[in-house]
Amino acid sequence: MPGDESWHHAVTGDAIEPPASFAEQANVTDPDLREQFAREWPDCWSRAADLLDWSDDYDAVLGGDGPPFRWFDGGTLNASYNCVDRHLDERKNQVALTWEGRLGEFRSYSYLDLYREVNEFAAALRELGVEEEDVVTLYMPVVPELPIAMLACARIGAPHSVVFAGFSADALAMRMDDADSEYLVTCDGYYRRGAPVHQKNKADNAAIALDDGIEATVVVDRLGVRDGGESSDAADDAPLAADEYDYDDLVTAHRGETVEPVPRDATDQLFLIYTSGTTGEPTGVRHTTGGYLAHAAWTSHAVLDIRPEDTHWCSADIGWITGHSYTVYGPLALGSTTMLYEGTPDHPEKDRVWELIERNAVDVFYTAPTAIRAFMKWGEEHPASHDLSSLRLLGTVGEPINPRAWKWYHEHIGNGECPVVDTWWQTETGGMMVTTLPGVDDMKPGSAGRPLPGIDAKVVDGDGEPVEPGETGYLVVTSPWPGMPLSMVEDDGWFAEQRPLYPDLSEYDWAYFTEDGATVDEDGYVTLLGRVDDVINVSGHRLGTMEIESAIVGVEGVAEAAVVGGDHELKGEAVYAYVITEDGYDGDEDLRERIIAGVEDAIGPIARPEEVVFTTELPKTRSGKIMRRLLEDIANGETLGNTSTLRNPEVVEDIQSKVSND
Ligand code: WT7
Repeated sequence: MPGDESWHHAVTGDAIEPPASFAEQANVTDPDLREQFAREWPDCWSRAADLLDWSDDYDAVLGGDGPPFRWFDGGTLNASYNCVDRHLDERKNQVALTWEGRLGEFRSYSYLDLYREVNEFAAALRELGVEEEDVVTLYMPVVPELPIAMLACARIGAPHSVVFAGFSADALAMRMDDADSEYLVTCDGYYRRGAPVHQKNKADNAAIALDDGIEATVVVDRLGVRDGGESSDAADDAPLAADEYDYDDLVTAHRGETVEPVPRDATDQLFLIYTSGTTGEPTGVRHTTGGYLAHAAWTSHAVLDIRPEDTHWCSADIGWITGHSYTVYGPLALGSTTMLYEGTPDHPEKDRVWELIERNAVDVFYTAPTAIRAFMKWGEEHPASHDLSSLRLLGTVGEPINPRAWKWYHEHIGNGECPVVDTWWQTETGGMMVTTLPGVDDMKPGSAGRPLPGIDAKVVDGDGEPVEPGETGYLVVTSPWPGMPLSMVEDDGWFAEQRPLYPDLSEYDWAYFTEDGATVDEDGYVTLLGRVDDVINVSGHRLGTMEIESAIVGVEGVAEAAVVGGDHELKGEAVYAYVITEDGYDGDEDLRERIIAGVEDAIGPIARPEEVVFTTELPKTRSGKIMRRLLEDIANGETLGNTSTLRNPEVVEDIQSKVSND
């Protein structure tokens, strides 16, 4: 908790000025932009809206006295038109999407190619019965058909719900049920570290578990089996059922057809995406068409400094919000080339990422600290063996980056010449909120930076008062922003109901608590200290401890479970599960394996416990609350403070002896 002495105070390094060579050519060069935005708020945000083409102009930048907050009220637009059609005049032959598959294949789509296939697939979706406002679930790895399907949905006003391909059948079913989604686009399978993952089998199992049925399933032939490829697995070439359609057949059947982009209200939903929070079940976060797209485009322009002639690589999976905003919507809205990579960074060799950057002459590279830590560990000889001089800017997102990793990235990848933007934001914020303007602001390794122009973020104490420099507190946002989700737009109580409010924010007309702890320095630079809720950040992905616990107690032989995050060199945090067995069951290898399988079935391999510790009791306070902080300290091998306030202090030593701290 902030204020708690156990919180490490991240030491920020010396400030580094933006290189003059970069600042000269940056998209944003005005040092007074923050002041100007503050003076002109909310009208300042018309700058973001101006990056888009509107079918009907909006009447007000921020309509209503809020809530509800109606960004670009009265305006209508279509996201697919903005990301595709409007670029045809100037750059129909420029590459829009370039893709590298896991097996070394590559494909690229010009804006004209993208236009054609988005239209054809939109026509196919219509024919299958998809209407405006119907939610279409997309369950695929990073293949070009995924952004194409997203844009096809956007074209006909059907919100998409992309479910990360690594999630399990149960996780998919839960999300489809929650969204009342009756249309699914998936693939037969895909390769992961050389072995096929049977995605369609997972989708079939999800279909069985759904409350309502599926109207239609579209299957992308990723394994190439139905087209005569090879697979030893009979399941891969099973014929499609009556309500199942082959993606290529659909697109071919609609060859050359066009679909008028449906004008959507700025406040209409563009998509939804699920994220973990303090409640046991993932929450669907619904993003708007106008506000979200303007926020994604503006931050791609102002922070990632993207311009049309650039090749941009955001290495996040499109299944997460980062991929939505900075692989698909932001870069395509700006008319640049966005690069997709399906594989892993160390396959076939540990220089894979650098080889891709060199071969594609990538200008802007945006990745996660967890990846940078792995690159560091693999050694600087890998990037050194490639020409990375095409790079102009580097970015990170997802978790705090320590100054050492920041400096390594800056020096070994950016050759000391590329600014590094450490971008803080969340699934809920839709786009970047706290970071540096790369052509204007000094960089401080380890610190994200100041709130972006027009963003009212602050670090406050428990009473909602801004903290003094150097003190720790809670990061809150006290004014609405364009990328805010519909749930917040509509309902001032949303954040209060969904989240146990730590700080008292009653003095603000409106406020959003991010559930991150932070500190701020005398220049207003915010350093993030991690989550204050029961969320674990594994490799930059939010996982709810309650979700994992409920998966574990669902395993036969488990009586009780507590899940916490322990520090992990590469992943940032790892899942530690403390488990009490039921009478008659032993905490043996068999149960451990069933627990891991149970978590993988309920959520997916990403939530797999790093360690399962069997114990007879969990450390509890006299009032019966599990002492999670103590379990975290044990996971991290830290010396424990006073345990005498526990009801059962004797269990601590026993648990400690069972945890391997390596
Ligand atoms: C949480 C949001 C939207 C980006 C991908 C993750 C942490 C994100 C940073 C950063 C420190 C960061 C926060 C935040 N986080 N970026 N630059 N520095 N922490 O999206 O899954 O919604 O997770 O990721 O804890 O609350 P998400």
